[in-house]
Formats: sequence, C-alpha cells, structure tokens
Amino acid sequence: MNEKVSPFTPGNPAPVELFVGRVEQIREILRYVGQTNSGRQENVFLAGERGIGKSSLAAFLQHLVSKEDFLAVHVFLGGVTTLDELVRRIFEQILKEADMQRTLSDKLSRFFNKYVKQVDLFGVSVSFNPPANDLKDLIRNFPEALNNIIEEIKPEKKGIFIALDDINGISNTPEFADWYKSFVDNVSIHYPRFPALIMPIGLPEIRDTLSKHQPSLMRVFRVVEIDKLSDKEVEEFFKKSFERVGIEVEPEAMKIMVMSSSGLPILMHEMGEAVFWLDEDKIISEEDAFKGILNAADSIGRKYLEPKVYRAIRSERYRSILRKLASEKIIIGFRKKEIEARLNEKERKVFDNFLRKMREQGVIVADIERGRGFYKFVNLLYAVYIWMESQRTVKLNNKYYH
Ligand SMILES: Nc1ncnc2c1ncn2[C@@H]1O[C@H](COP(=O)(O)OP(=O)(O)OP(=O)(O)O)[C@@H](O)[C@H]1O
Ligand SMILES: [Mg+2]
Repeated sequence: MNEKVSPFTPGNPAPVELFVGRVEQIREILRYVGQTNSGRQENVFLAGERGIGKSSLAAFLQHLVSKEDFLAVHVFLGGVTTLDELVRRIFEQILKEADMQRTLSDKLSRFFNKYVKQVDLFGVSVSFNPPANDLKDLIRNFPEALNNIIEEIKPEKKGIFIALDDINGISNTPEFADWYKSFVDNVSIHYPRFPALIMPIGLPEIRDTLSKHQPSLMRVFRVVEIDKLSDKEVEEFFKKSFERVGIEVEPEAMKIMVMSSSGLPILMHEMGEAVFWLDEDKIISEEDAFKGILNAADSIGRKYLEPKVYRAIRSERYRSILRKLASEKIIIGFRKKEIEARLNEKERKVFDNFLRKMREQGVIVADIERGRGFYKFVNLLYAVYIWMESQRTVKLNNKYYH
C-alpha cells in the first residue's frame, strides 16, 4: 500500500497552511473589513483570470477575518443564475458557518426558524430550503434580513464578511446588478450601522457585464485585482509544501520548478504534484524536476487545453517543429522568420499548417504590436505548455532518456 500523501491540490483552493503571496491585497481588504467597524457597509470586487487564485484568496481571507471576530462566510455560486438560488445559498452558508461555531447556533437557528420556519439541523450540516414565497421576501428584504442577523450575532461578532465566489454566471442575469445596487443604496439610507463587507468574485470582464446592466453599480465597488505570483512566492510555496512531507529540494530542481510554473498557481500545483509522485528518495533532483515537467505537461494538456488543441500539438506531424521551437526559456511570442530559419524544407511546409492550426484553435494570435510575422500565445498557460512539450522532444534524445 502506498501511504504517500501529496500536499498539492491542483484544482482546489489552497489550504491555509500552504497559501502564499497576495500580501498587498490582503492588507487592503483587511483595511476595508476594519472600516466596517465604524458601521459602514463595504463592497469589494475581487477580480482575476481563471485559475489565478481568487477562491484560494477568499478562503484565506475567511480564515483571517474569522480570527478578527467576524462571522465570515464563503459562498460558492458557480453555475448559479437566479437571485432565488443566490440568496438561498447566502443564508444557508451563514447558517452553516454559525452552526460550526457553536455559540452562535442557538440564536441564529431561532432567527431562521422565525424567518422561514424550515430549518433542518442534522449534526454539523444545515440545509436551508425555505418555500418560494419566503425566498422572494428574503430577496426583497435582503438588507433587513442581513441586518437582523448582524444584530443577533452582535455580542460575539463585530460584523459579517461574505465572499460571493464566482458571480460569472449570475452577473449575466440582468436583475442581479439592479438587486445589488438597490441593496447598497437601501443600506446607506436606512442603516447608519451596517458592519458588513460583501466581496463578489469574478473574471475581470465581469465588471463590464455588470456595468452594462447597471451603469452605476461599478462605482460602489473597490476593485482588488490579483495576478501572477512572483517567483519568490512560488519558491516559498514549493519550500513549504515539500517541507511538510519531509522532502528536500535541490537548488537546481527548485529553479526548474519555479521557472516552469511562471507564476501561475495552477501550474505550480501541477508541477509539484507531478514531481512529488515520481520522487522515490525524498530528494528532488534536477532530473526529477525535468521528468516532472513532462508529467505535468501531460496533465495540463489533458485538463486545461481543448482536446483538439492537445491532439494537434502532440501529433507526430508537429514533433520536429516543437523541437525547433524549444529554447532555454519560455517564450511568450516568436517571429515566424526566425523559427523558419531553423527548419528544413519539409518542416517549413508543416510549419505553415502548424501556425494555421494554432491560430484556428486560439492558441496563438498575430502580435500586431510587434509587427508583421510576429505571433504570441494567447495566454501564459499555452506558452508554458508548448515549452514543456518542446522540452519533451528535446529531452527524449538527451541525457535523461538514454
Ligand atoms: N496563493 C496561493 N497559494 C498557494 N496555492 C494557490 C494560491 N492561489 C491559488 N492556488 C492554487 O491554484 C489553483 C487555482 O486556484 P483557485 O481555485 O483559487 O483559482 P480561481 O481564481 O478561484 O480559479 P477559477 O477562476 O477557476 O475559479 C488551486 O490549485 C489552488 O490551490
Ligand atoms: Mg474560483
């Protein structure tokens, strides 16, 4: 039986112990949380590209804010498109959180009982399924309901923190933007003291969607954006993670893993996971790291690329092109001519097909800024993936694969 347990969590929000970086953003958001102590309701929009670490940051904030005597809830809204479900999930999560913190549960379940008459308590898990009419009331009287909760928990909690994780779906519903705006307006008119921070989370372009539906909504948000991690933070992540399972990482191996992660959290988890499983002696060597890249590339190709793109890139036909695209460093763009100069006649023909295919599949685009004949990868993940695959073709004939 294999008793190894990987510390890496590709695809799931990072556990608090292995969370790294985001120092500035955390400081900023905690400042706004502090500001709600004066009674002011705050709204933060947390924006970031797919997989950049929004949910992980929200989970980490929930942990920090809880320690500041706030009731902190993290509501997952992926796939939610109606206000009914949105509001149901918010209250359900509040109930669950309060239920876990024993002291609050009596008071709050009394409140919810009173409010919707249906609360199912079994052990620690709570489900909240009020009849449709009551749910409509909760949508309409959201400020009042939230205020009641804040009042109920006042002796123990300074206020409430609600992360609305992944509003990408619901923001396409026109009512959402209006509902949110009237919530904010209502609170500022009727409640001089409303210590609540609400933090919707979504892709950067969601701001445009929301503005389209309700032009003045974006004004209510303080926008906090997260981007790539620094190489230092990625290194810290690998150190922490491997240390936890008693594995030593040699400096050369660390360099390789940090470079191929390119500051993207999902890549660092995939890299770590791949390296972790192929290591046998509790020491990560340069060779382990290189093999890890190849395994990580497999996993990334299958998980994050369109199957068509994945097949095209890995097809026999383009192998030799990939080898010639390979370089020491990850390139985010290239000049057609320069690559062409390295190709033989046969490869050159295939190269045109290769470029066309990559363009059709949305892997590369013409780099207009740099000029004619320049191409760039549409995102860093593709660039890293191509680099990983090119390393495969190089390394196959190289020192590690004899
Ligand atoms: N600060 C961090 N420290 C350590 N790991 C992180 C960090 N941020 C993100 N990760 C890891 O990166 C991956 C993606 O993170 P996460 O799910 O939080 O991103 P997201 O922006 O919410 O993605 P999506 O757009 O798909 O919702 C996860 O495996 C997570 O564990
Ligand atoms: Mg997320």
